[in-house]
Amino acid sequence: MPAKPLHLSNGRVTNAGLTGSAADFIPSNPTLPKLRTAAARCRGCDLWINATQTVFGEGPSDGVAMFVGEQPGDQEDRLGHPFVGPAGKLLDAGLEHAGIDRSRVYLTNAVKHFKFVPIERGRRLHKKPSLGEVRACKPWLMEEIRLVQPSVIVALGATAAQALLGRDFRVTQQRGKPIPSELAKAVFATVHPSAVLRAPAETRGQAKADFFADLKAVARYLKCHPAQSQSAAK
Ligand code: URA
Ligand code: SF4
Repeated sequence: MPAKPLHLSNGRVTNAGLTGSAADFIPSNPTLPKLRTAAARCRGCDLWINATQTVFGEGPSDGVAMFVGEQPGDQEDRLGHPFVGPAGKLLDAGLEHAGIDRSRVYLTNAVKHFKFVPIERGRRLHKKPSLGEVRACKPWLMEEIRLVQPSVIVALGATAAQALLGRDFRVTQQRGKPIPSELAKAVFATVHPSAVLRAPAETRGQAKADFFADLKAVARYLKCHPAQSQSAAK
């Protein structure tokens, strides 16, 4: 794809189109709608080149809980919305099971473009984003957290957990427990719903039960620590 020179808000001009950080695209006095518009033309890393579109977070601007995935998947990339594919369906079921009101939840991802390798018959295989890509994209996530101010943030899988809690964080050891953080009253981490879907048939049922149990722990926390206005836990 030909790279057009980009004129950045800080006066820099870049020919490669890539700036190394989403921070270069954050508008002044951002609101969620302003961020969404700006993110549509982000060139903070090279993932925008092959993806269909930026998939920004969605949900109420005063969401009590924010769920953070890794990156949009194939369907999210085509449709432009987070968690609308199979992983999103499982997340919806888990929220329902835990009694967390979906309409009070903000959904987003650590990385906002789909990273994939093309395979046979036009299919696209999800590829894990690199540390550099997660770092480049993080300013969008930090702005979403600053504006939404959720009581609880839930990292889905290691990529989101490490983006939010540091590289040494291990989901397997600390899943389902409130972790103190400056980002929210508590940050929880659990597995990514795609990992449940990919688990071998013999262990998938248990993986799903464990995932649902972690979401129940989030619901319990929200009940005991209600937001000022209204709680997401029914
Ligand atoms: N997986 C993610 O991490 N995020 C999505 O939006 C969809 C699938
Ligand atoms: Fe920008 Fe993030 Fe997309 Fe990279 S993945 S181009 S940093 S929005």
